[in-house]
Amino acid sequence: MNNTLNNSQPQLAGKRVLITGGLGFIGSNLAERCVADGADVAVYDCLDPHSGGNIYNVHEIENDIDIIVSDVRNLDDLCQAVRQKDIVFNCAAHTSHSQSMTDPLADIDVNCRGTINLLEAARRFNPDVKIVHVGTSTQMGRMIHSEADETHPEFPTDIYSANKSVSEKYVLIYGNAYGMRTTVVRLANNFGPRSNIRNPNFGFINYFIGLALSGRNLTVFGDGGQLRNASYVGDTVDALLLAALNDAANGEALFAVADTQCNVAEIARSICECIGGDVQFVEWPKEREAIEVGDAIISNEKIKRLLGWSPRVSMSEGMRRTQEFFRPHLEHYIEPGAAKAA
Ligand SMILES: NC(=O)c1ccc[n+]([C@@H]2O[C@H](COP(=O)([O-])OP(=O)(O)OC[C@H]3O[C@@H](n4cnc5c(N)ncnc54)[C@H](O)[C@@H]3O)[C@@H](O)[C@H]2O)c1
Repeated sequence: MNNTLNNSQPQLAGKRVLITGGLGFIGSNLAERCVADGADVAVYDCLDPHSGGNIYNVHEIENDIDIIVSDVRNLDDLCQAVRQKDIVFNCAAHTSHSQSMTDPLADIDVNCRGTINLLEAARRFNPDVKIVHVGTSTQMGRMIHSEADETHPEFPTDIYSANKSVSEKYVLIYGNAYGMRTTVVRLANNFGPRSNIRNPNFGFINYFIGLALSGRNLTVFGDGGQLRNASYVGDTVDALLLAALNDAANGEALFAVADTQCNVAEIARSICECIGGDVQFVEWPKEREAIEVGDAIISNEKIKRLLGWSPRVSMSEGMRRTQEFFRPHLEHYIEPGAAKAA
C-alpha cells in the first residue's frame, strides 16, 4: 500500500468524517483532502484564540462541509457530533508549549479532558467509529537514545507534551479495554499551507515562514544546531488517512515523521533561500531554553512497515508550495502592517 495522492479516494468516498480542530493547521488540510476525495466532512472547532485555528483555512470548502462551532470540553455536543460517523480525526488541542507552562490547567482541560470527552462520546454513541488521534514527538522529552522509535521512554519537558502523552494513552486504553478502533499518529515539526505563521507559539518553522514572507529576519536561538524531523503537511495528511483506512493501525502509536533530520539553522537558511529574509542568531530566552528538547532523531520505520507510508515532499518543494499558498492570502494570516515593504 503506497500513499499515492489518489490512494485514499476510493476508500474515502461517501465516508462520514468528523475532524475536531478542523479549522486549525493540520485539521483544515485534512478536511480539504477528505472533501477532494469525496468524503462527507464535518469539522468541530471552537476557534480557540490560544490555538492556530483560522476560519479562512476552510474558505475554499466552506459550502462542502458542516462546521460545528463548539468546544471539546462540551461532552453533549461531542455526543451529537460523533453519531453516524465512520471516522473521527482528533486534531483539536491547545498546541502551545509555552502557554501550557503559563496556564497548565487550561491545557489539561482541553488536551486531557477534551480527549476523554471524545472517547466517551464515541464509546456511548458510536463505538464502531475509527478514531485517529494526533500525538507529538515532544512527548518523549530529551532523547535518551537515538534513533528514537515508539518504544522510547517519555519524560516530557513541558506541560503540553505531558498532557499529549497522557491523552494518547487514553486513546490506546479505550481501544484495548473496549475493543474500539483507535490509532495514534505522532507528528513532529509540520509546516505548510494554513499554518499559523504569525505567532512563534505554533511551530518555529511556520513562524519563520511568516517572518520571511513579511520581509523580516529569522531569529534563531543559540547556534540552531539542534536536529529536527521537519514534515510537509501534505505528507502528514497521507499518514492520517492511511491510519484511518487500514485496520493494521488499530491499537498502535506511529511516528509519521520525515526520513531525515535538518538542524534549526539549516531549516532557517532554506526558508531564506526559498522565500527571503536573513538568519539572525540570538541568545536563548531562559524560559524557552528550559523546555528545549535538544536533538530529535526519530525513526519512521514502523509506519512504513505497517501502512506503506513514506514522506514524499522535500523541504524545498514543501517551501515552494507553502509560499505559493500564502502569497495571495497573506492578509488572512499576518497582522495588517506586519509585512515590511520588500
Ligand atoms: N503542527 C505540528 O507540527 C504538530 C506537531 C505535533 C503534534 N501536533 C498535533 O496535531 C494536532 C493539530 O495541531 P495543529 O498544528 O493543527 O494546531 P492548531 O493550533 O493549528 O489547531 C488546533 C485546533 O484546535 C482547535 N481547538 C483548540 N482548543 C479547542 C477546544 N477546546 N475545542 C475545540 N477545538 C479546539 C483550535 O481552534 C484549532 O483550530 C494537535 O493535536 C497537535 O498537538 C501538531
